[in-house]
Amino acid sequence: MRATVNDIGLEYTDEGEGVPLFFIHGFPLCREAWSKQVEAFKARFRVIAPDLRGLGGSEATEGPVPMGRFAEDCYKLMQHLQLDPVILVGHSMGGYAALAFAKIYPHALRGLVLVGTKAGPDSPETAAARRATAEAVGRDGIASVVEAMAPKMLSANNADAGMAADVRGFMTPSKPAGVIGALLGMAERPDAEPWLGKIRVPTLIVTGADDTLVLPSESTHLAKAIPGAQVRFIPKAGHLVAFEQPEAFNAALQGWLAQPLLQ
Ligand code: MLT
Repeated sequence: MRATVNDIGLEYTDEGEGVPLFFIHGFPLCREAWSKQVEAFKARFRVIAPDLRGLGGSEATEGPVPMGRFAEDCYKLMQHLQLDPVILVGHSMGGYAALAFAKIYPHALRGLVLVGTKAGPDSPETAAARRATAEAVGRDGIASVVEAMAPKMLSANNADAGMAADVRGFMTPSKPAGVIGALLGMAERPDAEPWLGKIRVPTLIVTGADDTLVLPSESTHLAKAIPGAQVRFIPKAGHLVAFEQPEAFNAALQGWLAQPLLQ
């Protein structure tokens, strides 16, 4: 489906009925990364998953996309769809956006799931590397980003060539301007640490035990800093844990969703 919200054409999935379960994908992916969750949860929830601005099939804009802008796009899409407060699931960069959302729109949040993500900002070195990558994408397109990111998405022990091809396929529709905007937005994102203690909704933290892109220790930290948060480590999973180990991921999410506060 497609809607113009916040002056941008966003592609999104919207299936099922019930409490809204809203998924935000990571970089430089698209909503297809959540396909195994859409299938599993649409029988009991209203499952919504947009392609973020500039990624997947959504329109791109020029310039940096701050994490708060991604959050605003999601909030405007929720308003457009007349959603009740959502259970927000954010993976990696989508988690940075979800943390921005939790700060700006707490009234629109019923629960929070942070997957393979972290609260801290980029180090100066990481931010500089992102800016250099953004320049390279401006010159040469997104192929080098796909080459660099794709092998880091799955566990190093995963030899499933079909799954690796699927992961590349989640990246290739992204537009250069969208990839540049996300890189620059991540490089300038603020430290979310100061508001972790103010999150008041039930929170689940999930990480792939083999994640080398965002280390599992970041999840341990988030779980300590967010009041009442629960944490799950999924074995045999890398960064894209929900796609690589959907049964274990979905079971962890399903178990947590069963609590009365989220019904
Ligand atoms: C992502 O998966 O969204 C990115 O790897 C996050 C990042 O580069 O910080």
